[in-house]
Parts: sequence; structure tokens; C-alpha cells
Amino acid sequence: MAPVSRLGGRALAALLPDLRALPGPVYSALSDAVTALVLDGRVVTETRLPSERELAVALQVSRATVTAAYDALRSRGYLASRTGSGSYVTLPAGSHPRPSLARWVSSDAADDMIDLSCAALPAPPGVLAPAIAAAADALGPYTRADGYDPAGLAVLRVAVADRFTGRGVPTSADQVLITSGALHSLDLLLRLIAGPGDRVLTDLPAYPGALDAIRANGARVVPVPLAGGAGWQIDQVTATLRQTAPRLAYLIPDFHNPTGALMDADARRAVLRTARQTGTTVVIDESFVGLGFEPDERPCAAIDPSVICIGSLSKPVWGGLRIGWIRASAEVISRLAALRASIDLGGAVLDQLVAAELFGRLDEIFATRLAELRPQRDALVAALARELPQWRTNVPRGGLSLWLELDAPLSTPLTLMALPAGVAIVPGSRFGVDGTLERFLRLPYSLPVERLNEAVRRLAGVWAQLDRSGAPHRQLVVA
Ligand SMILES: Cc1ncc(COP(=O)(O)O)c(C=O)c1O
Repeated sequence: MAPVSRLGGRALAALLPDLRALPGPVYSALSDAVTALVLDGRVVTETRLPSERELAVALQVSRATVTAAYDALRSRGYLASRTGSGSYVTLPAGSHPRPSLARWVSSDAADDMIDLSCAALPAPPGVLAPAIAAAADALGPYTRADGYDPAGLAVLRVAVADRFTGRGVPTSADQVLITSGALHSLDLLLRLIAGPGDRVLTDLPAYPGALDAIRANGARVVPVPLAGGAGWQIDQVTATLRQTAPRLAYLIPDFHNPTGALMDADARRAVLRTARQTGTTVVIDESFVGLGFEPDERPCAAIDPSVICIGSLSKPVWGGLRIGWIRASAEVISRLAALRASIDLGGAVLDQLVAAELFGRLDEIFATRLAELRPQRDALVAALARELPQWRTNVPRGGLSLWLELDAPLSTPLTLMALPAGVAIVPGSRFGVDGTLERFLRLPYSLPVERLNEAVRRLAGVWAQLDRSGAPHRQLVVA
């Protein structure tokens, strides 16, 4: 297997702490620091590390120091060497990817459970019932045809297309396919575009459902680390595109899940330009567009119309609607419709009529959502600063969650101990690949302020009980 990307000496040096400030000999500080980068997901598995000589120059240490550090990494199972392909990052034998759990709520759960395992909201009050009534009234004529339409009802395709056009992305109804949610949209695109073994570039951390969908389609995840809430390291994204020429790139540039980061216009242009050069199809997940505490950025499809956009009503309105869409060229949409016909023949007509009704109220729904979310976000940030000041976070610019850096890589033990204490959360490793990102945690601010305050109080209690000694090595054996 060839390494998926290469980290140069200077790039690795930039990720490392001051080795001389760490206890012990420099070689062991170097091997510990690289181990931490791997476990945190900042250096992903299958990355080729710089040669010993190159890293020694970048760090201004002797080559023998780097050789000893690489030997230590190799003996602990974090580095493998193959003739002709250098030394690349791996994980010790016996460690394996986290189980694919969508939710961490289990029978251990306390009665008064605070569920922060999902970044989603309940349906807004007073919105669904009138839309359902109006949809029922409109249903009659549809029942006189067979009701199968794999591309979706014209009235909803028009509503979606008009919304794109209103955002500065001229779109006709034949460029829209209606799906059962954004995840279904991604799965259809993967089936159409990415064959088994193809590379798919993603953010790291990434939305776990997308990682699962990519793997389920037999494709291979090529993750590019974000700098937490500070967002994309665009040079790394473009370098990885160039080095790996992935078949597809899946990005969430608008209020990213889980970090809430927003990609600026220059970065969008740079990524899209490079993807064009490498022949990579770009899929932009717009699930959180409109859910920002600051204005949306220019849509990627306005910068490059060949970009494929996916989105849904799940985040602004309700996940239970299961209504999403794909915006692509009319030709790609026809192919997707043909593919979709072989899977489920199309979406439910009544549900699509409900969705079409809701589109008329979307601006009002977004405004109400944001008015609720802002104080919740602020309350969660304040509660964390008060109760767990040793955890670090950015104030997210939008979306539904905070991405936290813990002061020890114990996200999974914290998750497991939080359940009986009455808080359901998802560990950072669920947003990474191969069990990395154990030092991180996502916390949604999707609940009322008093529940968020109570959740943080409970988490602080659990964190105080965790034994953090020897933490970096323990996370790999947590089931
Ligand atoms: C970025 C992102 N994409 C897609 C989805 C799935 O959305 P849907 O319910 O529309 O399938 C989610 C849900 O959390 C998400 O966060």
C-alpha cells in the first residue's frame, strides 16, 4: 500500500512543540510528540514522514536523534518502513477503528439523561402542522398518477432551485435531485462517482456519517487536518489534493460539523482551483448554510459551477422530515435519478409536498433558530470557561456544536463515564479515522441554557474523577 500523503520536514517541525522544553532526552520527546500528533489525528495514518536527514535539518538536531526517535516509534508500532516508500505513520497492531456508533446512548444511561450526542434540533413549534395540512390538501392530483419519481417532485425541485438562484447560484429544476437527506445525497454521489479503492478527501475532524458512507462504498478516506475551530490549513488541503489526486473531495466549508468553522472566499477559490487541476470532483455539504452567527460566505458553486452541492431540511427544520437534495449539472442529475431508481424508486410524495410548503417559510425559520442558538452557544462557552478552564475551544461562527481540546487524550473514557452520570456525548475519535482525535470532544449547544449548564457541571465532575496519568497510551485499549 502506498502512503496517502507526505509530510515534509518543515511541515512536521511546525506541528511539533519545543522539544527541548519537554522532559527527558530529545529523541524520546520527539517520538512522544509524534505519537501525540498521530493519536490526535493531526498526522493521519498512512502519512509518509520526512527522511531522518530532512527532519534533522528542520529541527536542528543530530540525525542520530531522529534515528533514535524513529526507532522508538517503530518499536511502539507507530511507524512502518517499506522499501521504496520510506517511513509512514501507522497504528500499533491490535488497535482498530472505533466502532461505528451513531449514538452513544445505551442502557447504562441515567434517567435524567442530557443528550448531547447529536447536533440536531427538535422541530420548531407551530411549523410542521400547517405545512402538513397544506400538503394533504395538495395531494389529490398526485394520487391520480403512479407516484414514482426518482428525481423528486417538480414543485420541490423548483423550490430548491430558486433558493440556490437567490443565493447567487443560478439553478434550474433539472439541476436538482430530491433525496432522503444530505447523507443519502452523499451516498448516491459516492455510488455514482467513487469506485472501490478510490480516494476521497475529507476534513479531519469530519462528519462521522460521511466517513462511514465513504468506507461503506469501498472508497478510501484521505483526511486533511483542520486547525480546530480556526479552520482549514489551505496549503495542506491543496498539497494533499496535488499529492493524492483524489477522485472526490467532500468538504463542509459552511459552519463545519463539528468545529463550526467557516471557510473564507480566498480559501474556497484556492481549493476549487486546485481540485479542477487534479480532476477531483468536489462535493460541498451545505447542511449548515444559513445557521451562522455571521453572514454566509459566497457559495462554492457560485465560484465554480462544476461543484456539486448537497443539503437538507434536517438542520434548519427537522431531521425527521428526511428531505435533502443534490445540485449538479442536469446530466449528472439524470444519471443520479437512474441510479436512485434502482435503489428506492423515489421519495414519498406527501413528505415532498410538506417540504415544498416549508420552503416558503425558511427565512423565518432560520431567524428563529439563530435567535435561540446564539444564547445557547454563549452559555455553553461560558459554562466551560467556568467549570473546565483547562479545556480549550474557539467560539464557533455557526453550526450547532463546539469542538473542544481536552487536556488529556481521554475523550472515549470520558464519554463512557459520562453516561451513568447523565450526559450522552460522542468522543472526538468518532470524528477521526483509526481511533485518532482522542484529545478532542464535540459538544452541541442544541439544548436550552439550563440543560447545557447542568451538562457541563456533570462533565466537570466526571473529568475530575478520571485518572489522567499515562493517558496517551491508554486510549488504544478502550473498547
Ligand atoms: C455535515 C452533515 N451532513 C449531513 C448530515 C446528515 O443530514 P441528513 O439528516 O440531511 O441526512 C449531518 C447530520 O448531522 C451533518 O452534520
